[in-house]
Amino acid sequence: MLLGVNIDHVATLRNARGGIEPNVLTAARFCMDLGASSITTHLREDRRHIKDSDVQSIRALPKVRLNLEMAMTDEMQDIALHLRPHAVCIVPEKRQELTTEGGLDVAGQLDRATEFVKPLVERGIEVSMFIDPDIAQVSAAYKAGAPFIEMHTGRYSEDFGTEREEESFQALKGAAAFAQTLGLKVNAGHGLNYENVKRMHEIPDLVELNIGHSIIARAVFVGLPQAVKEMKELVEGK
Ligand code: PXP
Repeated sequence: MLLGVNIDHVATLRNARGGIEPNVLTAARFCMDLGASSITTHLREDRRHIKDSDVQSIRALPKVRLNLEMAMTDEMQDIALHLRPHAVCIVPEKRQELTTEGGLDVAGQLDRATEFVKPLVERGIEVSMFIDPDIAQVSAAYKAGAPFIEMHTGRYSEDFGTEREEESFQALKGAAAFAQTLGLKVNAGHGLNYENVKRMHEIPDLVELNIGHSIIARAVFVGLPQAVKEMKELVEGK
């Protein structure tokens, strides 16, 4: 499995003082040098952490593979078509939420999703849809023409260590297996940490895990290189 590192919270910290430190480009370079497969940033409608200039600068960095998380809006589609990130992950977005809550409802807006995905795929961008581990949503993502899904691991992460863990975990495992029978490639992310990430190895053929908060939180104590290194070892099953 590959590790994509979400560096949104490096920008959150930077924005707390309005300057340039900690520098998100340095963070992106660091993570790639340490073996991350991609750098994920969520350009939110309210630009609360990552800014347009950040995604442009990260995109221009050599050797950095940019995965742009974005809402299904015309503005974001325009940005992606111009920026041409290596990958986009289409997420639902609500202004008041602290972080992405729940997966995208692709089944409930299949026509819109299909029309949204098409030009991105035609532009050579790897498109992924961030969905709950739900069979109807997996089917819809497939019909919409996205080659990838990213399974929302938030419920599993919340339930980890409780009597609900197994049910949430089996939902992920079942959804991944179903998606793979359709030929979809499957990523996962949200709420994964140094403990709950280990069970991702029980799900066959996951491609990439996208992890942010727990890595940046650990980096406060041990530094970003060590935090990324430790997570990469877990993701690689070492
Ligand atoms: N994947 C997606 C689609 C997300 O929206 C997020 C959060 O921005 C993540 C992964 C990373 O989640 P976390 O910061 O909890 O690791």
